[in-house]
Amino acid sequence: MAMLLIKNIGILATAEGNEPLRGSAQHAGVKLIPDCAVLVNGDTIQRICPNAEAPECENVLDAGGKLVTSGLIDAHTHLIFGGWRQHEVPLKLRGAGYLEILQAGGGILNTLTATRKATEDELYERAEAVLSEMLDHGITAVEAKSGYGLDVENELKQLRVIRRLKEEGGYNVIPTFMAAHAVPPEYKGDPDGYIEFVCREILPRVADDELCEFVDVFCETGVFDVEQSRKMLTYGQAYGFKAKIHADEIDAIGGSVLAGEMGATSAEHLIAADDKGIASMAKGGVIACLLPGTSLYLNKDFAPARKMISAGVPVAICTDFNPGSCPSCDLQLCMNLGYLKYRMTPEEVLAAVTINAACAVGRGETLGTVEPGKQADLVIWNAPDLDYLVYRMGSNLAEKVIRKGNIVK
Ligand code: NIG
Ligand code: FE
Repeated sequence: MAMLLIKNIGILATAEGNEPLRGSAQHAGVKLIPDCAVLVNGDTIQRICPNAEAPECENVLDAGGKLVTSGLIDAHTHLIFGGWRQHEVPLKLRGAGYLEILQAGGGILNTLTATRKATEDELYERAEAVLSEMLDHGITAVEAKSGYGLDVENELKQLRVIRRLKEEGGYNVIPTFMAAHAVPPEYKGDPDGYIEFVCREILPRVADDELCEFVDVFCETGVFDVEQSRKMLTYGQAYGFKAKIHADEIDAIGGSVLAGEMGATSAEHLIAADDKGIASMAKGGVIACLLPGTSLYLNKDFAPARKMISAGVPVAICTDFNPGSCPSCDLQLCMNLGYLKYRMTPEEVLAAVTINAACAVGRGETLGTVEPGKQADLVIWNAPDLDYLVYRMGSNLAEKVIRKGNIVK
């Protein structure tokens, strides 16, 4: 196994352990270790030691006194889609709401048409280009949802693309089945009928081919209500998949309460989350995946992150990359927004895109911290410290990226 020594690290900023950080630990659990070195054995971190005690090694990467962290993890994206939706922006700026555009056949349904038309290879190439951009920005693992096919053939097509990105492309992509993303034209006005179809016709095929790890549902006014969402996630859990839920993005109709009740791994968006929902998430051990890029892009409020942290809900920050509500895969920008708009500390922000995001994708054991035994996913930042990383905005500060022990940038 090839060894790699990363020496002259100015500050190593990392959480510890395999569990999400919550409450005051989301800040206090992030350690700032000065003047150290990390020894990598193959794809695994072997040792962290003071720089002065670093062993001899043939392969050396000099961090030049800069900041090093674990690779960033984007725990919420809609990575696989055809087309873009730039033509909807003027409509939005004239005042059309997100759900209004969707109900008029635009939004997700617009992307549905383009995604159904696209071949598997076309979807692969587009997604590969995005993943390569993300890697260049220090993102070494990415969750990716289906949800723009909304029929058997096209949902499976999206999920097969995700599998290929992992197997052929070598990307660390975690697949989520989200056929319950919108009601397709074939079931217009019949969300119950569509959920029944998804549970009975699509989900078993996804399970047969082992194409996902998580099941997600868009629980929102005018999309799927709490009972339809409960049914979707219950079926998913019966097949052994873990639950995620798009909840309280626009209205608090009970999605975050449901997340807590069902022991979902994560609830996403949560802009409108109320005290009841936050308490339920805290009780159920649900990770809040917050999406500040979407708040920015939809000109909405920012989710009440401080309330969630005070209530003991672990917070992750993700991009929500998709062609409508957030056409940006820039997790560094989301970190800036987490700092400025959620008013999270730099340490809390780092936990939100490393250990908490790792746990939100079921990878707390292997990813999310720089510790012996964890996968060697690391970033050397063009930054002297963590404060600087969340303070600078609009520049890609990832200088060197190491994934599974390989220097990929
Ligand atoms: O998470 N809210 C629902 N789904 C996506 C948006 C998808 C789209 O607009 O294409 C989201 O923001
Ligand atoms: Fe989303």
